[in-house]
Amino acid sequence: MANAIVDADQVLQHATPITHQQGQELQPWGHLIRMPIALSEAACREGVDNLNQLLADTITLRDLYKKHHWQVSGPTFYQLHLLFDKHYAEQAKLIDSIAERIQVLGGVSIAMAPDVAETTLIPRAPKGRESVPVQISRLLHAHEIVLKEARTMARLAAQREDDGTNDLLVSEVIRTNELQVWFVAEHVVDAPIVRAE
Ligand SMILES: [Fe+2]
Repeated sequence: MANAIVDADQVLQHATPITHQQGQELQPWGHLIRMPIALSEAACREGVDNLNQLLADTITLRDLYKKHHWQVSGPTFYQLHLLFDKHYAEQAKLIDSIAERIQVLGGVSIAMAPDVAETTLIPRAPKGRESVPVQISRLLHAHEIVLKEARTMARLAAQREDDGTNDLLVSEVIRTNELQVWFVAEHVVDAPIVRAE
């Protein structure tokens, strides 16, 4: 029986990853695709624009928590180190919900650090370490920016009959941020530790 002649190079070509490929973007930034979710184009467009602002601010708040998780110091180091990381994880979960909602509405979610940096409304933190009271003030200010815009966006989404976006904003974003504010803010109450005043 004669053996078939096999061109090894040709066979292996099919098993080799095709790398360094380039091509046109599938959906350019700022352009909306229509999803069959029974919402008006205006509702989707407004939702995408608002949620991208909220996404940039939430990514920044998430990163602020990780920065402070690493850089915290002092007598409350251990509890704040753990608390900051817990809030980081909860913000990361919100980010995924917001980004995926943007895609559901037919938009493109903001993702990369340089784009986030030029979009966020949260003031830039220094590269160096800051004391606990300053870290906490920075976090509380960031939370308040997020809460203020999320409440406005929730009302606008309800007016446009976008209940899904309204629910995400109220049930997840607003409630999570309010709770985190409580846990963080209680650390800057000047309460006596040992003896009542
Ligand atoms: Fe860690």
